[in-house]
Amino acid sequence: MPIVSTKEILDRAFADKYGVAAFNILDDLTIDAVLAAAEEERAPVILQTSVKTVRAYGRDRLISVFRAMAQDTTVPVAVHLDHCPYRDVITECLDAGWNSVLFDAHELDVADNLAQTVEVVAEAGKHGAAVEGEIEGIEGKEDDIGSDEASKLQSLETAVDFIRKTGVDVFAPAIGNAHGQYKSAPKLDHQRVTDLVEATNTPMALHGGTGLSDDQFRDLIARGCAKVNISTAIKEAYMRSGLEHLKEAEEKNKWDPPTLFAHQRAAVVSTAREHIALFGGSGKAW
Ligand code: 13P
Repeated sequence: MPIVSTKEILDRAFADKYGVAAFNILDDLTIDAVLAAAEEERAPVILQTSVKTVRAYGRDRLISVFRAMAQDTTVPVAVHLDHCPYRDVITECLDAGWNSVLFDAHELDVADNLAQTVEVVAEAGKHGAAVEGEIEGIEGKEDDIGSDEASKLQSLETAVDFIRKTGVDVFAPAIGNAHGQYKSAPKLDHQRVTDLVEATNTPMALHGGTGLSDDQFRDLIARGCAKVNISTAIKEAYMRSGLEHLKEAEEKNKWDPPTLFAHQRAAVVSTAREHIALFGGSGKAW
């Protein structure tokens, strides 16, 4: 199956009221594991990369590995650039072949953010790529981008105006969600999602997925959160399974890297499958 546009993946999910898991991948092992999970669930999936991962792994290397692995996949997949405030990185990733980008200009005032997002939408359009927009910071840093402080909230009218005037394909509202593990059970503004969807008929992106309850996911997806971001759960599955294996390796004084990688891959596949199934994506591949 060729790589599919993020817009097509999200529009179908939005119309059918299921969520597409957007997993933050880090390297070839996590790309392979997430693709395997989507394949096993027969689900469309979005792989997303932070700016940190793009820089650490290397942009061209990352897209080449993604393409090489995705070409054997039989479910729809897309690659998305997560929270990116840098216009040059957006341009480079669009040129390299990313299917969508989150232009995260929430630190600018809304008028400036809006004007620049219009430009990013036009630029992405030339590549057939989609754009996610954001006007309020999601609490908690995601791979060094963002802030641990809650950001200023904007009015519903401001958010609706931003979505309409920019023509973004998906919008990321701040509804009390946060990146990383929640310190206490989050209270989310579900109504905000309904209000935005009713006013704009645009899919929403649910950030800060790790740690939300099954009911929160189901309700928010039913209201129009067609893209559901999961990063911390993937990182933890990857690293905790590695730690577990390494402790055992040390105890037995037996060091076999392929066994370590297989153990980590299995943990990431299992975490990704659980989320895909929970979001209703299983069996939705076309
Ligand atoms: P979590 O790390 O809380 O899963 O959030 C992921 C996210 O929203 C990426 O943008």
